[in-house]
Amino acid sequence: MDKAVLMGTEMNSSGGKRSLVHWRPNATINGHGLIIGASGTGKTYRLKATASALAYEYGARVIIIDPHGDISTEGEQRAHFNETSPYGLNPLKVNPDPVSGGVNRAVRNFLATINRSSHRLGARQEAAMRRLVEDIYAKNGFDASDPRTWNPMTNPDVRGRSRSQHVYPNVSDLKHYALFKYKQLMTGAGGPAFKALTELNRTIKTLNKQVLREHGDISEKAAIDHISDADSDKLEKLKLKAIESYQEYVTATKTGDEINDLLRYTDIKTLESLVDRIDHLEKAGIFKDSPPVFSGDVGVHVYDIHALGRDEQKMFVDVLLEDLWNEQKAKGPVPAPNTFIIMDEASIFVDKDSDHIINILVREARKFGLGIIFASQSINHFSEDVLANVGVKLILGVDQLFVGEMARKLRVDARRIDSIRPRQSALIQTKVIGDQKSDYVDIFLSR
Ligand SMILES: Nc1ncnc2c1ncn2[C@@H]1O[C@H](COP(=O)(O)OP(=O)(O)OP(=O)(O)O)[C@@H](O)[C@H]1O
Ligand SMILES: [Mg+2]
Repeated sequence: MDKAVLMGTEMNSSGGKRSLVHWRPNATINGHGLIIGASGTGKTYRLKATASALAYEYGARVIIIDPHGDISTEGEQRAHFNETSPYGLNPLKVNPDPVSGGVNRAVRNFLATINRSSHRLGARQEAAMRRLVEDIYAKNGFDASDPRTWNPMTNPDVRGRSRSQHVYPNVSDLKHYALFKYKQLMTGAGGPAFKALTELNRTIKTLNKQVLREHGDISEKAAIDHISDADSDKLEKLKLKAIESYQEYVTATKTGDEINDLLRYTDIKTLESLVDRIDHLEKAGIFKDSPPVFSGDVGVHVYDIHALGRDEQKMFVDVLLEDLWNEQKAKGPVPAPNTFIIMDEASIFVDKDSDHIINILVREARKFGLGIIFASQSINHFSEDVLANVGVKLILGVDQLFVGEMARKLRVDARRIDSIRPRQSALIQTKVIGDQKSDYVDIFLSR
């Protein structure tokens, strides 16, 4: 097996013979790559060819993030993400690693991911969201200070849905909890009184439904008059209980701070906006307990996210990369890249914040066999981490307007960028291990 990806042939022949130009991930400083080119210069085309070569010639697992649904390759397995997908990712999953994982980190990541969308949370919203998320972990028995509780399979204190279904809390759990808190605030009087009122309501609803099922001809409002005597007694008891709880609460008023205490969690408006926000996240349909299952350690696995809005795409990719990174780290260090992430339209997803997952991957993922290949129309969105560290760079041609800037940033002669003939020629730089100088080479592209 030739562990190389053919990129083209060298333009300048030496002794009349043109040598082939390969990218050998094994022999390059890392498995990361950057493909830059204006619209129509063949970035997606090149990504497809690279994906196939990496999977079927080099023998790697290739994960394609497909934001337009146009990166198809033969033999691929494709998972479509949309409102009705049967699978999804869970942004509240906790990395159980005692050193690099944990509940606090999961909370931070979740908030950061939401804040990278076009609607940042305000200070109050962020504080309230943090409490909601912390509460939901606590309710399921996850303790931020005890790593033994970070895996729902082995957590000795596991509770709630995490206990019954051996899963992490998810966005739906968060939504139910936020809604519960909201209703509690709206109806006042704290936990016990609110619970009593909720139980009363639920019971009335059930009894009314029974009546309506039996008598098709009465209105919902009139149903209550038709319930049996025994059920009426039951209702009376529940009503009394609710009244007593409220009475107790009102009678116990001492400091005049009772309402403020109730609102300590947050104010009603903030909580209302969060319920909306979380509802929106849940309705996107992509955040669920179970991820798609791809078979085989070698092959092309496509995450097709073209049906998602821009914000959802960004959040999805943040969560996906975090999951892949944790999975890859858990397998331990390896000598050569065995998994590649291919990211088209990378400017949507990259971030200059050095704590962002993409920059972490570019700096640290090599040891764990993970390479990431970006394609983009411009280099402006990329951090120094990316520009300085990728093992291979391919320039497919850019608009005259950007030639000067790119030449400066990538340290290459502007005239050479200018003379690229799109889809025919390109400039490539590979940083080969043990080779100090890594000059750009002019190539004719391979098909
Ligand atoms: N080396 C090549 N040889 C032959 N055809 C090519 C080559 N590169 C690209 N093409 C063709 O050129 C067209 C544009 O390529 P592609 O879609 O990959 O561009 P792109 O850089 O991804 O553009 P955009 O930024 O608009 O997505 C496609 O029809 C593709 O098949
Ligand atoms: Mg494209």
